Amino acid sequence: MTEKQFIRVNPQIEKFIALIELNRPKELNALNRELMLEIRDTLRELDNDDQVRVIILTGGQKVFAAGADIKQMANASAIEMLNIDQFSTWDQIKRTRKPIIAAVSGFALGGGCELAMTCDMIIASETAKFGQPEIKIGTMPGAGGTQRLTRAVGKALAMELVLTGRFLTAEEALRAGLINKVVPVELLLDETLALAREIASQSPVAVKLAKEAVNHAFNSTLDEGLLFERKNFYLTFASEDQKEGMSAFIEKRKPEFKGI
Ligand code: CAA
Repeated sequence: MTEKQFIRVNPQIEKFIALIELNRPKELNALNRELMLEIRDTLRELDNDDQVRVIILTGGQKVFAAGADIKQMANASAIEMLNIDQFSTWDQIKRTRKPIIAAVSGFALGGGCELAMTCDMIIASETAKFGQPEIKIGTMPGAGGTQRLTRAVGKALAMELVLTGRFLTAEEALRAGLINKVVPVELLLDETLALAREIASQSPVAVKLAKEAVNHAFNSTLDEGLLFERKNFYLTFASEDQKEGMSAFIEKRKPEFKGI
């Protein structure tokens, strides 16, 4: 693992799978600006690394992240917040073309919940707690909480969580459609790796185009989204992986995808 100041990075925890681990345990992985810049830069590097097909983002077994760093923000003026614009660094997460899976245990609150929701899928341990408690400290979500949570769980529940700060248990989050799976805490990394492995065994070209198309569903009308999807589908036929995948099916063998 490479140590940065606030995160640890293993670009090959397994073949084709990279791991980013938040590493501010005493502050419950509170997301200060420096940590978010480290995540941004690391994602950029991993997105350009041919040996990486899937990225896992975790806080470890105790806590995912208790939100943006309140101590760092507490005395800032509105104009300082505007000028620093720290949440714009989060756009890099959204721009990452490879799939990112959040492995969440313990608190995923405020910016922590938003960070998990910015990823493409969430595997949670039984101890996970999701919430947007900003209302309790006199503010509101600022990194996607009112938008991504509402799209994921619907208006009624999102409104309740944002306006009361109540936490969702992992089981509630699963039922509400916020997360993919709940697993015992000691199996969190194994189960996340199993999902990552399955995705990493597919054509990286098709995975990239398919991720882009699914995300398009949030930003377009149905007709625009369908058109976008169709073009990405046709584009997969420019890849060797598509030829390999379909030949392998016909020849009744396992495909060998190369990402070209
Ligand atoms: N920022 C900075 N420090 C934090 C923090 C945060 N978001 N969350 C926890 N910490 C620090 C605590 O201050 C404490 O530090 P000290 O030991 O120096 O006092 C340490 O982490 C341990 O925390 P607690 O003693 O509070 O631990 P607990 O188990 O009693 O409570 C908790 C855990 C319920 C998560 C509680 O820490 C808490 O409520 N944290 C804040 C949650 C929150 O409001 N998050 C939203 C932040 S704003 C935001 O995220 C905006 C946005 O949209 C991006």
